Amino acid sequence: MPLLQVSGVAKRFGRVVTARDVSFEVAAGEALGLVGPNGAGKTTLLDIVAGTQRADAGTVVLDGRDVTRLGAAARADRGIARSYQVPRPFGGLTVYENVLVGASFAGRRNAATEPARDAGTQAWHALEVTGMTEVADTPSGSLRLLDRKRLEVARALATGPRLLLLDEIAGGLTDGELPQVVGLVRRLRDDGVAVVWIEHVLHALLDVVDRLMCLAGGEVIAQGDPHEVIRSPQVVEVYLGSTVDAVDAGAEPTAEPTGETA
Ligand SMILES: Nc1ncnc2c1ncn2[C@@H]1O[C@H](COP(=O)(O)OP(=O)(O)O)[C@@H](O)[C@H]1O
Ligand SMILES: [Mg+2]
Repeated sequence: MPLLQVSGVAKRFGRVVTARDVSFEVAAGEALGLVGPNGAGKTTLLDIVAGTQRADAGTVVLDGRDVTRLGAAARADRGIARSYQVPRPFGGLTVYENVLVGASFAGRRNAATEPARDAGTQAWHALEVTGMTEVADTPSGSLRLLDRKRLEVARALATGPRLLLLDEIAGGLTDGELPQVVGLVRRLRDDGVAVVWIEHVLHALLDVVDRLMCLAGGEVIAQGDPHEVIRSPQVVEVYLGSTVDAVDAGAEPTAEPTGETA
């Protein structure tokens, strides 16, 4: 049984249709990449999985249990965590304190079933995994971009998720910083956390994901083997344009795909 089964999801905001009939699955421990033009509805789809947005139709099933009617907190209790495209830490709190907030929720969740792993230990572990122990006492409002992105992952990780939803954590990073984020996502996946990763920095995404899915016009226009998906004529047409050759050849694309054709 897949960890996550999304079936027949539809969502619109007024006249803007972000999903018509979207279905996909994520296996336990699998990394799925999600690409598509700006405004395609990628973030909204993560919101629907996380429970911060309601779909107009369709179901979200986690571990065989229908969670469609559950709110975000109840889904977090069942192991879904997400990072936000625009990081929004509590700026006045330190890095450690921010991560502790996430860990405290997990402590409440796991108290009944697992031997107590206190929130502080769990938070520190998340800082170690994300490489943030040295900035643990830094106010999160004064972090550089790489650390703001890593803090988003650390906060999500501290909740002890089985499914981690990542929304554009590589954008704006330097070539020197990118491998750190790629290595982090790979490590989480290798540790058994299933990941759905929205990312425009394709060569970073392709370094990690097991499968790739492209969303455009409210539909899944391709999903499967990452290199097949980026060669699919529809994906090239609506999303990639001329950057596909550069990515395929392993070179740095000169520009990120913007999706402005959509
Ligand atoms: N809360 C909202 N209210 C109204 N429109 C929204 C809302 N969230 C997203 N949208 C619209 O839905 C479309 C898809 O947005 P989004 O999911 O953020 O796309 P992506 O992440 O693929 O760029 C956009 O046109 C956006 O303006
Ligand atoms: Mg988005």
